[in-house]
Amino acid sequence: MIILRDISSVTAAISQARREGKTVGFVPTMGFLHQGHLSLVRQARMENDLVVLSIFVNPIQFGVGEDYEEYPRDLDSDSSKAEEAGCDLIFYPTTAEMYPQGYATFVDVERLTENLCGASRPGHFRGVTTVVTKLFNIVKPHRAYFGQKDAQQVLTIQRMVQDLNMAVAVKIMPTVREADGLALSSRNTYLSTAERAAAPILYRSLLAVVAKITNGERDANSLLTYLHDAISAEPLAQIDYISIVDTADIKPVSTIDGPTLIALAVRFGKTRLIDNIIVEV
Ligand code: PAF
Repeated sequence: MIILRDISSVTAAISQARREGKTVGFVPTMGFLHQGHLSLVRQARMENDLVVLSIFVNPIQFGVGEDYEEYPRDLDSDSSKAEEAGCDLIFYPTTAEMYPQGYATFVDVERLTENLCGASRPGHFRGVTTVVTKLFNIVKPHRAYFGQKDAQQVLTIQRMVQDLNMAVAVKIMPTVREADGLALSSRNTYLSTAERAAAPILYRSLLAVVAKITNGERDANSLLTYLHDAISAEPLAQIDYISIVDTADIKPVSTIDGPTLIALAVRFGKTRLIDNIIVEV
C-alpha cells in the first residue's frame, strides 16, 4: 500500500491503473478509521481492482465552534487498518493541496440539504459536496462507497452525481454498530463513560419506531412524539432534531408511504451523534 500526499502523484497512479483496464473503488474518509470505514474498504476490495481511500479532515464542512481542531487524527493506526482491509493507496492531502491560495469554487446541492443536519449545520453539505467533487475528479473512481449512517450526506451525493452527470456509481453500505446498537463514529471517542452507556437509546428508539410501523402505524406525528418522549426520558440526551422525511427530497412527510428516512441528531454532553433507519413501506 502506498500513501500519496500530492494530487499529481495520485492522478498519475490512477491514470496508469485505468490505462491497464483496472477498475477503481474509492472510500472517502476523514480518518480515525473504525469498522464502519473498514467495511467500505472490504466491499471496495471485493468489487474493484484498485482500492483508494482518502483521509482528509475537510475544514470547509465544519462550522464555527465545531470540532475541526479536535477531530481525532491517527495516520499510523489508519494506514495499518486500511492496508489490512485491502486498501492499495491512501490519498492524504494537506489543506493547502486541496484549497490553495485563491480557491473560489463550491458545489451546492439545493433542497435535499435544507433540513436535518443541513438546518443544524449551515454550510456543512456545501463543504461535503465540494470536497467530494474534488476527490472524485482527482481519484476518478468507478465506484465510491459511503455508509448509511450519514444518510443525508449520501442521498445528497447521489443527487449531485446524477445532476452533474458524474461517471461514478455511489454505493450505500449498511451502518456498522457496536453490540449494543450504537452506530460506529469517530466522534464516539468524545463520549464520557456515562454518555457512552446512555447513547444506545438512539438505536433502541429507532427500532421501536420500526416495530410500530411494522404493526401498521403510518402517522408520522405520532411516531415523532413517541421518539421525542423515548429519547427525552434519557437525562443525558439533548435532542437536536428528530425527523421523518422522504428519501428523494428529504422533506418531512405526514404519512409513512414509500421509502422513508427516520433520522435524528442528539447531543450527549459536547458530542453530537446522528443515526437513522430507512423503512420501505
Ligand atoms: O463522511 C465523511 O467522513 C466526510 O463527510 C467525507 C465524505 C469524507 C467528506 O469530507
